Amino acid sequence: MISDKIGRFIVTPTGFHRQGGALVCDEVPLRDITAAEGTPLYVYSANVIAERFRAIAEAFASYPHSLHYALKANSTLAIARLLRSLGAGADANSGGEIDVALRAGFIPAQIVFTGVGKTQAELAQAIDLGVMTINAESAGEIERIDALAIDRQVRARIALRVNPDIDARSHPHISTGLKTNKFGVPIDEVPDLCRRFANARGVEIVGLHIHLGSQITDLTPLRKASEAIVALSRELRDLGVFIDHVDLGGGLGISYDGSPVPSARDYADALLPAVRDSGLELILEPGRNIIGPAGVLLSRVIDVKPQGNGRQFVILDAGMTELIRPMLYNAFHRIEHVETHDRPAADCDIVGPLCESSDTLGKNRVLEQPEVGDLMAVMDTGAYGAVMASNYNRRLMPPEVLVDRGRWTVIRRRQTIDDLLALEA
Ligand code: LLP
Repeated sequence: MISDKIGRFIVTPTGFHRQGGALVCDEVPLRDITAAEGTPLYVYSANVIAERFRAIAEAFASYPHSLHYALKANSTLAIARLLRSLGAGADANSGGEIDVALRAGFIPAQIVFTGVGKTQAELAQAIDLGVMTINAESAGEIERIDALAIDRQVRARIALRVNPDIDARSHPHISTGLKTNKFGVPIDEVPDLCRRFANARGVEIVGLHIHLGSQITDLTPLRKASEAIVALSRELRDLGVFIDHVDLGGGLGISYDGSPVPSARDYADALLPAVRDSGLELILEPGRNIIGPAGVLLSRVIDVKPQGNGRQFVILDAGMTELIRPMLYNAFHRIEHVETHDRPAADCDIVGPLCESSDTLGKNRVLEQPEVGDLMAVMDTGAYGAVMASNYNRRLMPPEVLVDRGRWTVIRRRQTIDDLLALEA
């Protein structure tokens, strides 16, 4: 909020928007942040994170539920702490993410532990901590949890990750709910498995878990999955296996290109009817939907090179090392000038500086003629951006900045070559 000349408060839009041609984040000009911190650089809006978390929480408010933020989307400590302060639990996918969750202040009872290949050390860590649930992926894993828990004279709470054989209709690399995907136990094997472990001394089956995939923008598969899991819970009840929750994972997509996508309310309308009938507590593990639109990657134009066909390569100081999604999933991210100029439109391929032809951030884009030194913003990079960054070509990880109520803070500093080499002999 800002006040005008006669002191009236004016509500200004939050998040990333333009003020007089300049891209700002919650009223802070992005140019100012890069002037201090350089490029490449990730910037996040605390306001957007809070608004998006609350939108999901409000959409499900009529039903007992808990939102376990999927740390894999972005687990920088300050982001994890912010989500915790908003009331989120955590979904951790590795021992490292459990450690981060604890350091961010989550207590073990707020952590669900997922992952298709949990090591003995990770399972022991989760059991010793007494996390809320371990989402178990196979009969073998349940046996291992059982043995570890018996050794420790405890009973671990587990949920069975069910593979429902439902197509998420997303990119094949981020779809997880088909028989041919490595995740979970085939749905028709679940009753036998539950019977087998019903009286196990080291495990207690307290829930069913499904995660169909990510960047899902058609809610039909998610609705079908919720119906399937609730039907399965009834089947289990008839066998004498009583669970207390269903965990429907994450996956709600966002609009990368401006086309309409389902809202948090649409999402709740798709999932809640089946779940409401079951009376079981609902757990969700949203990641991208909360943090994706809350972040941008800022980068500077290093070179502009004609392709000889009227098109040009715009070479940025960020590439696949800072955002691998375009290269890995052919993902689209809007790319914009941080400050508009009055220049003619140009046909551009926006690429990174790495030694790979697939190091491309945006193909076939029309931009106001880019010039060396221009600042560019790659939009919607809050999720699966910084967390998937690498040091390929010995590039140093960019800093991350969080804008909160008109002030910005570096929440992770830029990596130095000494940081990088500190691990080496
Ligand atoms: N729960 C489980 C068990 C998951 O595997 C995932 C994501 C989530 C929750 C969170 O899903 P979300 O709400 O963020 O869609 N790197 C890819 C996305 C991989 C997602 C992996 N699992 C990308 O950049 O699109």
